[in-house]
Amino acid sequence: MRITNAVVPVAGAGSRLLPSTKAQPKEMLPVGRRPLVQYVVEELESAAIESICFVTGRRKRAIEDHFDIDPELRAYLERTGRSELLRWLQFENTGVGFYYTRQSEQLGLGHAIGCARDFTSHEPFVVALGDSIITGGNGPPLVQRLMDAYHRTAGGCVIAFQEVPEDSVSRYGVAKPADGAPVSDVFEVEDLIEKPAPESAPSRLAIAARYVLPPEIFDAIDATEPGKNGEIQLTDAIRLLLQRGRRVLGVKLAHGERRCDIGNFASYFRAFADFALSDEELGPGFAEYLREKLSLPNTEPVRGD
Ligand code: UTP
Repeated sequence: MRITNAVVPVAGAGSRLLPSTKAQPKEMLPVGRRPLVQYVVEELESAAIESICFVTGRRKRAIEDHFDIDPELRAYLERTGRSELLRWLQFENTGVGFYYTRQSEQLGLGHAIGCARDFTSHEPFVVALGDSIITGGNGPPLVQRLMDAYHRTAGGCVIAFQEVPEDSVSRYGVAKPADGAPVSDVFEVEDLIEKPAPESAPSRLAIAARYVLPPEIFDAIDATEPGKNGEIQLTDAIRLLLQRGRRVLGVKLAHGERRCDIGNFASYFRAFADFALSDEELGPGFAEYLREKLSLPNTEPVRGD
């Protein structure tokens, strides 16, 4: 059976990006020309996802407005002789159907996914975190590879993993692969360890913001005890499925593929610079500006990817 539904949680407070996120969703911060969440939707579209459910919350209404067709804006651009700008609204004509549900209290990622239970109608579904962009790579889209791997799990879970430096593992959920260091791109996950100390981490493979989950995840979320700050963690619910004998497969990001997690200003600044530098029209000028600013010699190209 083909997987056609995706859940995109965007209800987090974005507190690490204050004050920018006081009155607007972090998912609407511009990265290059487009708001962050538009890249996520385009990624899902490229993997033939047909319906997306956003799990939203207070101060997140701009996301709904962004993906809604705006006839007034179109008419205004035409009336004022600027029809050439209509190309920037082409994304509105996507074939994807958008649905919205609210998470009234920020009780964690697991709880946010639980809010989309009715949307998924007892079918497996993709989860794509609304604050992370997957970029680069020349092969099939990551979400497509996760969906392909899902069919080998007989109703288990598939999780994307990125290799991170040893001193960063303590910021992530990390895989314990079944056979030590996995050599292939798809591997069996024996356990997941939340934010391990570098010396005790079972690998350097960190969960990378994309999943395929079975409908049974919802019962596992219901059965998951709240952890730190009273939050229900998705990783704990997946561990519960592992303990109940479900298979969990990991899919590594491919060569050249990268996850940009826009959770704090350091990663946001880097992502913005990367995307601005790879802008076809403005990238070369921006690179020139940076070269001057940093007094770099004009020998090496400055590029985003
Ligand atoms: P994060 O924990 O990185 O986002 O969640 P946050 O809660 O916005 O971060 P800070 O700590 O306040 O800065 C990862 C993803 O899960 C969603 C977020 O919107 C983000 O896409 N999320 C998180 C929810 O939808 N609900 C939650 O209760 C928590």
